[in-house]
Amino acid sequence: MSVTVLNGPNLNLLGTRRPEVYGHTTLADVADRCREHAGRLGLELVFRQSNHEGRLIDWIHETGAAVQRGESIGAVYNPGAHTHYAYAIRDAIEAVQLPVIETHISNVHAREEFRHHSVVSPVAAGVVVGFGVLGYTLAITGLYELTRAQ
Ligand code: DQA
Repeated sequence: MSVTVLNGPNLNLLGTRRPEVYGHTTLADVADRCREHAGRLGLELVFRQSNHEGRLIDWIHETGAAVQRGESIGAVYNPGAHTHYAYAIRDAIEAVQLPVIETHISNVHAREEFRHHSVVSPVAAGVVVGFGVLGYTLAITGLYELTRAQ
């Protein structure tokens, strides 16, 4: 059984991009922490990042199919700025009924107004916001527990 962690645009820059907001941890470090955490839960980790909406949509479809086959529990997803406007991402999650925990490193509600709205939240099973990169492992635990409860 696997869990997928998806990352949208600019998250490849984690560690150097606005460290006062996103911290100093790199995305490679986040992947390591997630792999270790998933392992403790008996899950394999699929970890991905892209700056391209279409590629992310393909991965959403792929993960949805894996969930249908009983091979994945779903995805932890930090959609980056796509969160705030990308209707095709929202529609993809809904279309394949992908269990998603929307995750943001920063507290988007304490930041600029355009970050307060998410087009993804209505199709997410849960949302984790403002815990820094710890949010990724919290979200994996949340998705795992939700899946077990069903
Ligand atoms: C983010 C918040 C978004 O508003 C922003 O565009 C990002 C990162 C976060 O993790 O806090 O790229 O999703």
